[in-house]
Amino acid sequence: MNDMIPTSAERAEKLEGMGCKRKRVEDVRFTQGKGNYVDDLKLPGMLYGDLVRSPHGHARVKKIDTTKAAAVPGVVAVLTAEVLKTVNLAWMPTLAGDVQMVLTDGKVLFQNQEVAFVVAESREAAADAVELVEVEYEALPVNVDPLKAMTDGAPMIREDLKDKTDGAHGKRKHYNHVFAWQAGDKAATDAAFAKADVAIREFIVYPRVHPCPLETCQCVASFDKIRGELTLWGTFQAPHVIRTVGSLISKIPEHKIHVIAPDIGGGFGNKVGAYPGYICSIVASIVTGRPVKWVEDRIENLSTTAFARDFHMDMEIAATKDGKVTAMRCYTIADHGAFDACANATKWPAGLFSIISGSYDFPTAYCLVDGVYTNKAPGGVAYRCSFRVTEAAYCIERAMDIMAQKLGMDPAEFRIKNLIRREQFPYTSAFGWQYDSGDYHTAMNKAMESVHYKRLRAEQKTKREAFKRGETRELMGVGVAFFTEIVGAGPSRACDILGIAMFDSAEIRIHPTGSGICRLGTKSQGQGHETTYAQIIATELGLPADNIMIEEGNTDTAPYGLGTYGSRSTPVSGAATAMACRKIKAKAQMIAAYMLEVHDDDLEWDVDRFRVRGNPERFKTMTELAWAAYHEVPPGMEPGLEAINYYDPPNFTFPFGAYICVVDVDVDTGQTKVRRFYALDDCGTRINPMIIEGQIHGGLTEAFGIAMGQEIHYDDDGNVTTASLMDYFLPTAVETPHWETDWTTTPSPHHPIGAKGVGESPNVGGVPCFSNAVNDAFAFLGSTHIQMPHDHWRTWTAAEKLGLHG
Ligand code: CDP
Repeated sequence: MNDMIPTSAERAEKLEGMGCKRKRVEDVRFTQGKGNYVDDLKLPGMLYGDLVRSPHGHARVKKIDTTKAAAVPGVVAVLTAEVLKTVNLAWMPTLAGDVQMVLTDGKVLFQNQEVAFVVAESREAAADAVELVEVEYEALPVNVDPLKAMTDGAPMIREDLKDKTDGAHGKRKHYNHVFAWQAGDKAATDAAFAKADVAIREFIVYPRVHPCPLETCQCVASFDKIRGELTLWGTFQAPHVIRTVGSLISKIPEHKIHVIAPDIGGGFGNKVGAYPGYICSIVASIVTGRPVKWVEDRIENLSTTAFARDFHMDMEIAATKDGKVTAMRCYTIADHGAFDACANATKWPAGLFSIISGSYDFPTAYCLVDGVYTNKAPGGVAYRCSFRVTEAAYCIERAMDIMAQKLGMDPAEFRIKNLIRREQFPYTSAFGWQYDSGDYHTAMNKAMESVHYKRLRAEQKTKREAFKRGETRELMGVGVAFFTEIVGAGPSRACDILGIAMFDSAEIRIHPTGSGICRLGTKSQGQGHETTYAQIIATELGLPADNIMIEEGNTDTAPYGLGTYGSRSTPVSGAATAMACRKIKAKAQMIAAYMLEVHDDDLEWDVDRFRVRGNPERFKTMTELAWAAYHEVPPGMEPGLEAINYYDPPNFTFPFGAYICVVDVDVDTGQTKVRRFYALDDCGTRINPMIIEGQIHGGLTEAFGIAMGQEIHYDDDGNVTTASLMDYFLPTAVETPHWETDWTTTPSPHHPIGAKGVGESPNVGGVPCFSNAVNDAFAFLGSTHIQMPHDHWRTWTAAEKLGLHG
């Protein structure tokens, strides 16, 4: 063998394909300040919009006087609902089948609701004029408590729905009722509870939190009156959906709407939906004939654009005396705020919440969710989770700990006893989900061995004894969480958004010199798509990843797709990419056979080339075949080398993970130190281990924020008391613990490259793990459940309630 000829392995390494820790190509521009965000866009003649917002949580609007505002130098227009009515845009449809006021029409339903939109030559002039819009309010009784929403005499939030008996998902139970949704087998579950040896019941609240992307929501709308065309640049996680919905709302033909999502500084579900600011900017551009920019500030972002969670769960588990789970039952009240603007697949009003049986082999289960209206901002987005999976994972993981405590079992051992076994996959859960693949026991055992779990428990025992003797004021907690995610929405039979099936797409063009471009229907907001999709192509087509350009976010050029959220990019567009590659490869194989004068079947693939079976010296590389595709195709074959794939996945993918956290809680200050956090993730085939690690670090940091301090809190008068980063906990490098990451690999059997999503997993698994750790610290004192967030004050209060302060 000639030493100079690179081996297959050496050639494969050079491609930087799947499995390579390829450096993020997008960081070249991001780290040099050369990103191109919406606010970087400056168009000739551009105007600036700013919103007048309600100081009240619930009030009738008696009068809006815009005279003084309109007189401010530089102000070009002031829009109110009355103006929007002239173009039939005072209300807009939501993704959840409800309607939402664009600008206040009659009354305001939550604090900071949009009341008027000022358009001016400069941001400063717009801001000055906002102060001068005079609004006369008559305050109304407020309700921000979802548990009181359906009581007699509760303030009616939605007068527009007063006579509506049917909601988007069946009969409404009350004037503040949005929907009821159930899953599982109620009768069988009730019967199992009736004969249960042991049962636990706990009211578990996942508070309202808010994704906090670095860049807030924003857009620039530019309407060309001559052509009748609208160009909309914006922070859109799902640009095509915005185009379609924009066309349906505005009646501008869809082909005359150009939606462009440039670089986006984080999304986390916050940038999926359509917001009043977008509609106002579009109308303002139509009215003024000039481009209009609207950029949210941080307070607006935290208090008005889509929140997450706000699930209030009454959870029960039944088990045998020796610790086998027999049933679970959960009744949930979901607070949707003033409008149901939840970003879910249409037929899942509570998202994929019925993954709530988690990673355990429950023979039967049942859940019922009631959505309610309150005087809070609308939303209900998947904050780094797949449509309410985080709520489900938190609920089941807390409940499993509570049951272990009642049975006197170790929480990890209790889980091991009930985890779905490897041989049960594909596993159909009591709720009907078919989990594609898993090896839970291997993951759990690896996690426990890695942290020396038994040693930790022994240390904890010693410390607890010392605490009881009064020798220390610190409690040690060990949190265990095992989660199963459901990502990759979705199979079109299960998922659509307003009737659009949830597939996704990739279009690949290979140029004559062997480089190429791939355009996709997804949209990265920091996940590194430009790096990783190219790696899939590198492995599939044998072309260096560096030779592939990835483009997303322009609806004129990208094939139709449903966007990026809920870790769907890899399961859906990643699959579309591989499938498009395979079409290209099939054509390349025919060209190679023609050039090498052999039959197609006599060729075999070797990393970056087709070679003749049994005669490896005779081959054509993919780069050679790319050139040939443009000048030497077999007779009758059309030239060129490109393919498009719209991928409708046969199922979701089910990544999973085992997380363990160790905390030390000071009972006198309530301060909790995270001593150790170990996260083992299994996302099937790993495309880029470095990016996966980055995703997990980011997600765990968000989970830490949520579990230890985040809450969008309203006082009884409807004031948001946590609408700035002074009050809303956003962990910085100072507070953030060190993360230990690990993995197992259990490929998805139905995904072309075996990959599952990963971006959401650390948020889904991290939150219960932190919460279990804090709860575990207090468990030996008889405490069963301390609600999140576990900030100093609440933890101190928990200690106080347990009589620990003497
Ligand atoms: O939809 P989103 O991009 O938020 O989530 P994802 O599909 O979980 O992908 C997040 C990032 O992790 C992307 O850059 C993926 O290519 C990468 N990833 C990976 O390298 N291997 C996997 N098995 C899953 C994701």
